[in-house]
Amino acid sequence: MPNIKVPYLDLKAQYQSIKPEIDEAIARVLDSCQFVLGSEVAEFEKEFAGYCGAAECIALNSGTSALHLALLAAGVGPGDEVISVPFTFVASVAAVIYAGARPVLVDIDPRSFTLDPAAIEAAITPRTKAIVPVHLYGQPADMDPIMEIARRRGLVVIEDAAQAHGAKYKGHPVGSIGDMACFSFYPGKNLGAYGEGGAVTTSNTKYAHTIRMLRDWGQDRKYHHLLRGFNYRMEGFQGAILRVKLRHLEKWTEARRRIVSKYNNLLAGSGVEIPTEMPWARHVYHAYTLRSDDRDGLKTALDAEGIQTGIHYPVPVHLQPAYADLGYRPGAFPQSEKAATEVLSLPLYPEITDPQLEAVTRVVQAGVHAG
Ligand SMILES: Cc1ncc(COP(=O)(O)O)c(C=O)c1O
Repeated sequence: MPNIKVPYLDLKAQYQSIKPEIDEAIARVLDSCQFVLGSEVAEFEKEFAGYCGAAECIALNSGTSALHLALLAAGVGPGDEVISVPFTFVASVAAVIYAGARPVLVDIDPRSFTLDPAAIEAAITPRTKAIVPVHLYGQPADMDPIMEIARRRGLVVIEDAAQAHGAKYKGHPVGSIGDMACFSFYPGKNLGAYGEGGAVTTSNTKYAHTIRMLRDWGQDRKYHHLLRGFNYRMEGFQGAILRVKLRHLEKWTEARRRIVSKYNNLLAGSGVEIPTEMPWARHVYHAYTLRSDDRDGLKTALDAEGIQTGIHYPVPVHLQPAYADLGYRPGAFPQSEKAATEVLSLPLYPEITDPQLEAVTRVVQAGVHAG
């Protein structure tokens, strides 16, 4: 049988499928010379706000900047605490430290890989200001109980939707559920720019106004600095490219979901634990992440066949050397720590072919049965 190589994702295939539209969008920016913010970014903001069901979108230069500015707009600062999870990309927690506050971590629910609402109350102190649930892998966290606790305790909820463009919770798009939501448009994301990018969505005009100022040096007009701001503006090229790609996003998400049902069928009976779409979720499968007792063996078998995989994430944030000073010990978050040893993300992108899918699942089936 010929060896079919399968990359983890294939940005070239996607570009080829929309090349004329992208090239035209890039040419428009070149013609206008609006390289920073400008009309393409402004139009993208309107279109993405509409897509998320939010009143406002503020386009930025990364998802990390989005989390940082959302926290600042919520009034988070030194002496405050923000609740989030250790089983996430490091930025969810690092942004709290950017804002000068202390991250207080709680464990995940092992089936959804998202914040366990039952763990929140015990983590709240008089210093708690906000909760940052992470919609990991493209599946929304269980937002109803999170919002209920936040409303009752006077906390701001900032969704980390960096991996979840187009996901829905009980029919509501992420980006319209918490007080604010943060998106990343890093190239490999479901909606990816051709460089760095991010955004905050919100229906709170006060937060939106503050974030608009903070991204552009805290100015309300040129050279009048009301706030101590940052250079976190989105580039014109990224706005133009994201406008093109947003028009294709639903079609791509549906393709991802179809691929996932094929994966699920092909992996039935293989002994690995396939992802669970929770009853509340429209999962957008930024990642198709399995659990296996022999994760490392499986990864080695796939590597040997030229099949790229990812581990999201091998070390929970509380056990990262850079965050040792948060004071958590091994054993503090058993579900996160167990997940870190078992998860493996298989290749998934809208353009993946059936023969590629079959090549991947054949190795998984053989690997598990050999192990
Ligand atoms: C869950 C999560 N939060 C935040 C970020 C940060 O986004 P960015 O890389 O655009 O700064 C990412 C992306 O990498 C992410 O996956």
